[in-house]
Amino acid sequence: MHYPFTRKRRLRTSAAIRNLSQEHHLTVNDLIWPVFILDGFNRSEAITSMPGVQRMSVDLLLDKLIPLHEQGLNAIALFPVVDEGHKSDDAAEAWNPEGLVQKSVKTIKSALPELMVITDVALDPYTSHGQDGIINEQGDILNDVTIKALVMQALSHARAGADVVAPSDMMDGRIGVIREALESKKHHNTSILAYSAKYASVFYGPFRDAVGSAGNLGKSSKATYQMNPANALEAIDEIAMDLDEGADLVMVKPGMPYLDIIKTAKEHFNVPICAYQVSGEYAMLQSAIDNGFLEEKKAILEALLCFKRAGTDAILTYYADRVTEWLSQ
Ligand code: PBG
Repeated sequence: MHYPFTRKRRLRTSAAIRNLSQEHHLTVNDLIWPVFILDGFNRSEAITSMPGVQRMSVDLLLDKLIPLHEQGLNAIALFPVVDEGHKSDDAAEAWNPEGLVQKSVKTIKSALPELMVITDVALDPYTSHGQDGIINEQGDILNDVTIKALVMQALSHARAGADVVAPSDMMDGRIGVIREALESKKHHNTSILAYSAKYASVFYGPFRDAVGSAGNLGKSSKATYQMNPANALEAIDEIAMDLDEGADLVMVKPGMPYLDIIKTAKEHFNVPICAYQVSGEYAMLQSAIDNGFLEEKKAILEALLCFKRAGTDAILTYYADRVTEWLSQ
């Protein structure tokens, strides 16, 4: 009888040795909480396709943020729910200094100056057609016209006090012009988180429902600017271009079906790689949890730990509030 000398199971025999030999860890420092904000006061609405997530006015959001920040939550990303009356073809509300995002940034930063506030730079909440860019009569998304609007939007966020502006629109060349504008207006320390490898994904469906752009977008797709889910090498080019233009951090999105892209990004580039566990991933997990098919805490923590294993430095997740509480217990 031959006995194996090397037994991989030895390092799995006790919790202590498993913990000691664990390669990757999930901590509260890894989390960014995406939140849907509403205008007004004391307002909160459920989102049908994202059970357990709410749209909230900023006063209610702050009530949640104060204890979460004490428990260690470092960062949030704001997504506005804009009234139809504020949507237009030129998306001008996007750079209104008194707009919902700009006002919310000021309120949150004055209450919690240490909390990192990330703002989304993209026109889709503000366009009457739900596309991320400005369109012509044929419905084509006009790259160079759009990036001028994105510059105004990013500057208005920086002026309001955003720590990080995050262009999620996938227009070409926008990082360079935004960086240049931020520098020329002395916003040297406003970082840019570029949604560099953002795929044209069906998994954004519930988000479009949450911000109310789904109806306006109708059957139109975003495939002329967001990436083809079949492509991997192209993600390297997209990230390299954005870094060259001045991005500080980059994003891969969606997350779990795209862990290979995260890993490749981490191997190629020495900047923080963020990943977005998007609304459709949340909806899938949460539906299984709500049906009793998956154990809530274990399923969520395993999914997020796998982002870390793939090489993610920070994860945008709608579970950030729950996970912050669990990790601080
Ligand atoms: C739009 C934007 C989207 C998401 C974040 N910013 C949707 C889209 O591109 O249509 C999706 C996030 C999610 O699904 O959770 N600029």
